Amino acid sequence: MEGRIFGKPMITQEEMRKRIQELGLRIAQDYQEKELLMVGVLKGAFVFFADLARAIPLPLHVDFLVVSSYGEKKKSSGAVKVISDISHSIKGKDVLIVEDIIDSGLTLTFLKKKFMARKPKSLRFCTLLDKPQRRKTDVVIDYVGFTIPNKYVVGYGLDYENKYRNLPYIAVLDNVREDA
Ligand code: IMP
Ligand code: MG
Repeated sequence: MEGRIFGKPMITQEEMRKRIQELGLRIAQDYQEKELLMVGVLKGAFVFFADLARAIPLPLHVDFLVVSSYGEKKKSSGAVKVISDISHSIKGKDVLIVEDIIDSGLTLTFLKKKFMARKPKSLRFCTLLDKPQRRKTDVVIDYVGFTIPNKYVVGYGLDYENKYRNLPYIAVLDNVREDA
């Protein structure tokens, strides 16, 4: 069977591999004396999360929550719905929330409020991609993989209408759509 041809990567697998190794080591240094609980925000973060967790040489804990944001197809409205919550208490824990991409910042702001109310010992955020041009709220992101321009991207966990999550690199949507 002929494979479908995807567009040119915006960020290649090799670039991603290198950057995630760097991030992993930095996080490991910062959490050396702590008990790190990594929380992945699904579905988008599933690929990045798996790679990042394996790049952190610490005995960490993992948990996940599933969120979906209402709004237009390519925009988050900021009204985030938690479809499935994490399964353990975070009280007194050092929590690192792992996201696929920060765009308007509304999802991060929502999660920060929700998690802070549960009294963790510390709370930080890590994202594979940061799209600062569309920010609507002031957010602090502690660990950023790549800062990208204002383009809609897919792959490596990120979707458009639930497709393209399995693309092994990041590409601009218009370059991968069959109907583009
Ligand atoms: P925010 O609340 O606007 O920061 O948006 C965060 C969420 O919107 C992400 O977790 C993604 O699910 C989605 N999103 C924003 N930009 C993109 C993109 O370029 N590609 C795929 N999903 C995106
Ligand atoms: Mg997401």
